[in-house]
Amino acid sequence: MNVGIDQISFHVPNFYVDMVDLANARNVDPNKFLIGIGQEKMAVNPKSQDIITFATNAAKQILTDDDLNKIDLIIVGTESSIDESKAAAVVLHRLLDIQPFARSFEVKEACYAGTAGLQMALNHVRLHPDKKALVIATDIAKYGLNSGGEPTQGAGAVAILVAANPKILVIHEESLALTQDIYDFWRPTNQAYPLVDGPLSNETYIQSFNQVWNTYNQQFNQQISDYQALLFHIPYTKMGKKALQSVLPTADQITQERLLQHYEDSIQYSRQVGNLYTGSLYLGLISLLENSQDLKTTQKIGLFSYGSGAVAEFFTASLVNGYQEHLHHSLHQNLLNERKRLSIEEYEKMFEDSLDVNVDQEFSDTYPYSIQSIHNTIRQYRK
Ligand code: CAA
Repeated sequence: MNVGIDQISFHVPNFYVDMVDLANARNVDPNKFLIGIGQEKMAVNPKSQDIITFATNAAKQILTDDDLNKIDLIIVGTESSIDESKAAAVVLHRLLDIQPFARSFEVKEACYAGTAGLQMALNHVRLHPDKKALVIATDIAKYGLNSGGEPTQGAGAVAILVAANPKILVIHEESLALTQDIYDFWRPTNQAYPLVDGPLSNETYIQSFNQVWNTYNQQFNQQISDYQALLFHIPYTKMGKKALQSVLPTADQITQERLLQHYEDSIQYSRQVGNLYTGSLYLGLISLLENSQDLKTTQKIGLFSYGSGAVAEFFTASLVNGYQEHLHHSLHQNLLNERKRLSIEEYEKMFEDSLDVNVDQEFSDTYPYSIQSIHNTIRQYRK
């Protein structure tokens, strides 16, 4: 039976920083950010918008009444939890009006958590094909003002509806995961920003990709020319390109051109929003599907998921005939185009204005599903 992605969409906050402005403010050559890192804009959120706000907006766009009755599993992948105990998925279950008899929980393993959730959801629907599962990858990537990771920040969510006989993408059962206990990027409990060894994180990412790529292709008898596109976790757009370039010399000229072109299609949205952590690989998938004109239903797409710490996974998927009719291209273009550009002064002020849930307060932000108030540490969202 075919199981996979029936619907997919993303949401980002309505503010951004232009990377040229940031480079100028930090006395850095703008080409370092534009070319060396590969980012043009970076999504930024006010304190009244959080991972629930992004997740609810992303999911609302794709769910019908029939879906709300059939979903019995809601998984949130995040490394920006708002609670050490209660899962964000439980709050989403209520905000989205999903029928009550459902499992709702949150999973964590850095940027890999969205894939962990997706694989669980696929297996659930393979066992129960009359049901559907909702997977949401939602995060705020923050490294701190003037930090090395600052140009690789971002915020937003991707929502994925998993179903039998999906309308967009069939995900194949063969996959290969890899676990290595490495401290390349981590965030001890109660620490606002992650600790990161930048060079080690880049190195571990590429090394992990090479391991799962080579072993997957050996185990399942695949070669590079079998793929029409390779999608990567995108912490910044140059990173995935480096991983792709590490295997391109093994391909013929036509395959190299095809993979490079499709990589460019897959990073169009990430260039404009930055790192979504758990959502980045799936933002790349949406970008590829919405911006490529020559994708085929007969040839595989490979997906590389990476979460620091580190867990990686390589798996494959095939497009479904007519998938284009189920995308939300203009909605996503409008979302990106209608954002407000912040001056660096406004960005720094927004960045440092952090949320204190121990102070009861009301918010004037009228953005859909933004935080309306906090009482007794509990966030109420604007419905
Ligand atoms: N014009 C063009 N390119 C320029 C340039 C200029 N004027 N100046 C510098 N560059 C290039 C450099 O040559 C370099 O390119 P290569 O990597 O191809 O050599 C690139 O710009 C970056 O320069 P640096 O390596 O000097 O950058 P940096 O030391 O400031 O740090 C970083 C870069 C390590 C990515 C840092 O931003 C960081 O720590 N980010 C967070 C960690 C991260 O994203 N790691 C990725 C793997 S981990 C992961 O994927 C999980 C996750 O989501 C966090």
